[in-house]
Amino acid sequence: MKNIGSYPNVRLRRNRKTEWSRRLVSENNISSDDLIWPIFITEGKKQKKEINSMPGVYRYSIDNLGQVVEKAVKFKIPLLALFPHTPSKLKNNNGSESLNENNLVCKALRFIKKNFKKDIGLMCDVALDPYTSHGHDGLLNKKYVNNDKTVEILVKQSLLLAQMGCDVIAPSDMMDGRIGKIRKALDKQNYELTQILSYAVKYASNFYGPFRDAIGSKKNLIGDKKNYQMSFLNPNEALREVALDIKEGADFVMVKPGMPYLDIIKLINDNFKIPVFGYQVSGEYSLIMNGINKKLISKNAIEESLLSFKRAGASAIVTYFAPYFASKLK
Ligand code: PBG
Repeated sequence: MKNIGSYPNVRLRRNRKTEWSRRLVSENNISSDDLIWPIFITEGKKQKKEINSMPGVYRYSIDNLGQVVEKAVKFKIPLLALFPHTPSKLKNNNGSESLNENNLVCKALRFIKKNFKKDIGLMCDVALDPYTSHGHDGLLNKKYVNNDKTVEILVKQSLLLAQMGCDVIAPSDMMDGRIGKIRKALDKQNYELTQILSYAVKYASNFYGPFRDAIGSKKNLIGDKKNYQMSFLNPNEALREVALDIKEGADFVMVKPGMPYLDIIKLINDNFKIPVFGYQVSGEYSLIMNGINKKLISKNAIEESLLSFKRAGASAIVTYFAPYFASKLK
């Protein structure tokens, strides 16, 4: 850096003296346009049940999704991400419930698209973990998730979701080559405008615990996901993943988890010109929420945490704080 001058001519605290001046020189900002709100869906009627491991986050039955959509529209949140809590009796080895057009996510998509002609996007995960009895994102061959057989099912799952009205198909499974195969299949069926958000860089992280509890896969999971999710030691590999997914037709890429991986968001942003999203995952949410509930940290830590994504260059953030934070922005 040149021409930074020196003390006492230069006093950086001058610009920090007043609130208006601090606002004037702020380099980053956040608005509700930057937020993606993840929603958990459960069976039954009139359900809105708090998830034990995620205070302030609920599972909704489909008939209660109206209040969620209304709230999101009111707060100008552009995109909802739908996640099913599949009853364990519907889970099996190959996750066949994922292809049932009357599964929870499909019913939710139809319900929202039929009843709310509002300008709001719906995004759905493509992966088998909500549906498999072993809790893995794909088909198991002994302890190894078979890539190509899994991709075949993911392609079918993607097509079904697109048919049900899903706007953004979000493969979160980390199989090789699935973005290209999904893009091709969507185009062939005239869904060439259905967007693909690739969870391009998804680390085998210890921060997913509460989510697995929320979708009911925690007790199921056998072993870990390290033979498909990435090692958190590897930034170069993240760049390779992103490069491949861009080539295969991804419209945006996700880095997940968020706060422990802001360096990766920045790295991608410096190397590619594609929108990068960050996922502030369940473990990050619960840590912050518990800190707030125990009065260890201020509620303002939520904004601080979300702004850190913006500073790293994320264009949007998947966060369970979306409704709370958007209401505060208003
Ligand atoms: C599943 C999936 C996971 C999350 C989103 N989609 C968990 C996992 O890979 O085990 C985690 C989200 C969170 O922790 O908030 N493919």
